[in-house]
Amino acid sequence: MKSSLLLILSLFAILASGLNVAPLAIGSSCSLFPDISNVQLQVNPWPIIPASPTSCILTGSLDKNETIGSVQVGQEYKSTWTNNLITVNAFYAKGQTFTFNYNMNSPTQSGSYTEKFTVLQSSTSNNILCWQFSFSI
Ligand SMILES: *[C@@H]1O[C@H](CO)[C@@H](O)[C@H](O)[C@H]1NC(C)=O
Repeated sequence: MKSSLLLILSLFAILASGLNVAPLAIGSSCSLFPDISNVQLQVNPWPIIPASPTSCILTGSLDKNETIGSVQVGQEYKSTWTNNLITVNAFYAKGQTFTFNYNMNSPTQSGSYTEKFTVLQSSTSNNILCWQFSFSI
């Protein structure tokens, strides 16, 4: 009797902890011709909590040798984009994993937002990956 209750309680605990794990694949591609594959974006905490430190980790593997110049991070709210250009300037060989860590304070005003990461090649400024996700607070 006691042990079956314990079993049920531990099953609940496992299910509850599983629900708190941030999904590994937030967002979708906005690139026509990406040069980065197996893209995963992890956002913590998820769902986003208003006015809180939020970490975004974007990873993917390079399809060919590239020097990544920068990542433009854009945030759209009520049709207005606010952009932040972050310098990378690093060479990635084909197959190498690119990891981009971005920490932000989530917005305070309620509404719908889109967050977009555009990875730019160094010499040409070509867009080699565009990845975006939306959230509401
Ligand atoms: C890509 O980079 C690697 C490591 O630097 C190099 O050995 C290889 O020759 C490069 N390949 C091309 C096609 O440039």
